[in-house]
Amino acid sequence: MIIFDTTLRDGEQSPGASLTIREKILIAKQLARLNVDVIEAGFPIASSGDFQAVKQIAQNVQGPIICGLARAMNKDIDQCWEAIRNSKKPRIHTFIATSQIHLEQKLRKSKEQVIQMTVDAVKYAKRYCSDIEFSPEDASRTDIDYMCDVIRAAIRAGATTINIPDTVGYAVPEEFGRRIKYVKDKIPETEGVILSVHCHNDLGNAVANSLAGVKNGATQVECCINGIGERAGNAATEEIIMNLATRGEYYKTKLNINLKELYNTSRLVSNLTGIDVQRNKAIVGKNAFAHESGIHQHGIIQNRETYEIMRPEDVGWVGENLVIGKHSGRHAITNILRETGYEFNDGQIEQITNKVKELADKEKSIEKDDVIAIANDITHQLTDDETIVRMIEMSVMTGNITTPTASVKLQIEGKTKIGTGVGVGPVDAVSNAIKNTIQDVMGKKLRLAEYNLKAITGGTDALARVAIKMEDENGNIFRADGVNEDVIRASANALIKGINKAISYNENINKPTSDKDIHDKIICGNDVQVSK
Ligand code: KIV
Ligand code: ZN
Repeated sequence: MIIFDTTLRDGEQSPGASLTIREKILIAKQLARLNVDVIEAGFPIASSGDFQAVKQIAQNVQGPIICGLARAMNKDIDQCWEAIRNSKKPRIHTFIATSQIHLEQKLRKSKEQVIQMTVDAVKYAKRYCSDIEFSPEDASRTDIDYMCDVIRAAIRAGATTINIPDTVGYAVPEEFGRRIKYVKDKIPETEGVILSVHCHNDLGNAVANSLAGVKNGATQVECCINGIGERAGNAATEEIIMNLATRGEYYKTKLNINLKELYNTSRLVSNLTGIDVQRNKAIVGKNAFAHESGIHQHGIIQNRETYEIMRPEDVGWVGENLVIGKHSGRHAITNILRETGYEFNDGQIEQITNKVKELADKEKSIEKDDVIAIANDITHQLTDDETIVRMIEMSVMTGNITTPTASVKLQIEGKTKIGTGVGVGPVDAVSNAIKNTIQDVMGKKLRLAEYNLKAITGGTDALARVAIKMEDENGNIFRADGVNEDVIRASANALIKGINKAISYNENINKPTSDKDIHDKIICGNDVQVSK
């Protein structure tokens, strides 16, 4: 069975999940350690960031096939090929919608025109690359015989993988399985190609639909780590894999996956995207292997198989919260980070080790999760170019009969500025002090669209991780986070990062570059399809 992971393409389309190029490369390397067969690394025409990320992944990540997405248009395919051409195993994935509603309302094309566009796109892509995947978008709502005509044409034009997407998560397992069987029965040419499924989770059926596809002959499943993706997400990679591994005889499939990397991959994706994994999530949720009831605990002690169909260690879940001592040092920290998929240079390891020691000196007991949170903070550090605003000093006054008041000293474009703010609590006061100063000096109105606070481990001495979303005047959203043992400092760090991201984005977007043209076209152009 071919596991096609699209965390970096469809997963990254999750609201608020945008990743930096550096973060995408870390995830791609971890997916390679997991040994997925295909990594869909992005949609190169979508923006210069997407293009660069796919290009760097193609250059630096070995093992899996590296795939890029392209609409059935020459300019998309050209850009896709430019991005993936340096991979040892490149794949172009081209798609066009085929359901009546998409034909009429979105594409304004006839059925015949869409077949012609499919053939042209596949043939055009084939000039670059032998490995071509084709998807009829919204397949599950497409007239089944028309869908077969499109697929037949794509195979004859040279497609080597045919992917059947349930784009809007409308299918139910039995029906979706029948659709896959129908394709196999009606199109003998599918014998010579990979038949793939790609299911969204709008009705909560993504994994079940994908597995029904496998049962009926699909040989590739497209999925995202932690089930992230557009709207309600895509089929979860870890659930697909563990279904196929645990029930291999039923599905009659074999996998190339390194199962022990599943848990680390899930954690890395969650930490870098900022999308938490629900506690009761199958396979990778914190409670997935926790047995609470006495009867279960008793059974487990007698024989684990009484209540356990998989062992936590099978998916790489080992000794969650090892305590890191004051003297654990660089070596232990480097090991934890390597195991969890992070990569740091010597300077960064030094920074993380120093922070761990600083906390240990304050008598805080440090757990593995604390090290990961600190590492995550350093991964998200801004470059000097992105740092337009720096915090120099901050003080806050609060109490039961005082209006929470904050004053901040900021360095903005090299000049020192002081500002104040009041709020309903100390965090609100600091946030207002920072925003007031930025508005006075730069005239920029930024809005805090979301604020989330999480204690990494238990206790009042826990490290706090604050994740925010900052919105600029044009409605663009910037995600940022801050980690500190002091909730107010963690909040201020996150705010300053978010503000810097918003300001540096707007300064760059105002520079006239050809990359910007591509970006603008995708957001505003009329010639584009709505969904990636
Ligand atoms: O959901 C979908 O239809 C897609 C296609 C591009 C495969 O993501
Ligand atoms: Zn999709």
